Amino acid sequence: MAEERPKYLIKAGKRLDGRKPGDARPMKIETGVIENAEGSAMVEFGKTKVVAAVYGPRDIHPKHMMRSNRTLVRARYDMLPFSVEDRKRPGPGRREREISKVLSETLNTAVFVEKFPRTAIDVFISVIQADASTRVAGLNAASVAMADAGLPMRDLVVSTSFGKIHDEKGKGHMVVDVFKPEDNWGMADIAYAKLPNLDKYVLLQMDGNVTKDEFFKGLEMADKSLDDIYKAQVAALKKKYMEGSK
Ligand code: CDP
Repeated sequence: MAEERPKYLIKAGKRLDGRKPGDARPMKIETGVIENAEGSAMVEFGKTKVVAAVYGPRDIHPKHMMRSNRTLVRARYDMLPFSVEDRKRPGPGRREREISKVLSETLNTAVFVEKFPRTAIDVFISVIQADASTRVAGLNAASVAMADAGLPMRDLVVSTSFGKIHDEKGKGHMVVDVFKPEDNWGMADIAYAKLPNLDKYVLLQMDGNVTKDEFFKGLEMADKSLDDIYKAQVAALKKKYMEGSK
């Protein structure tokens, strides 16, 4: 039976999990989690848990995808059957294919792709526990995993979500890092990614409606959160290499 829409998702400035509008969930970023991969990382945003593994540059199959002047960064996003409450059918469906395409496009912007012509860099993004915002968690994991693999990058990719949720009077409020009830019952949710040092927007996807003012308010909150994510990404990479150099 479908759950009923809650009367509110925010009341007196507090969201259902107690967060304030601008608060992200507790975050954890770790690198070097899969030994067999060239680079890897795990990202947790609250209960959302995602692992990324990078292989390549390597031969590209099918061959017709080969580009003579560049490598192709190919992200494959997968949500594992046990990652959601109702078991998810294994394998990529329409949603996974679309997300993989969008994440591939985003990740290609961060890599000096012309350095490795005629090859592919494969990035496997596996959602092992889903509580919304999995694609943006996946992008952060992929970005750290690519840096961990030693790929030449023009910048890291930092990513978060923001959205609009209703209070008890039905009024919308902008919030950062949407979790499942907010994704299900909220008025809008937006996936957002940026190359932070180049100040370039590389992903913006929206479900729902917001006004222009609401959008920019959400963006400002999200940018604050991206600063923290960038710091956590750099710290995770430094930690691994400092440990490695001991
Ligand atoms: O995860 P993300 O917010 O990037 O993408 P979404 O398509 O908006 O999905 C939101 C959330 O719905 C996921 O993170 C899962 O928690 C949940 N979901 C699910 O339970 N079963 C699915 N087949 C797809 C999504």
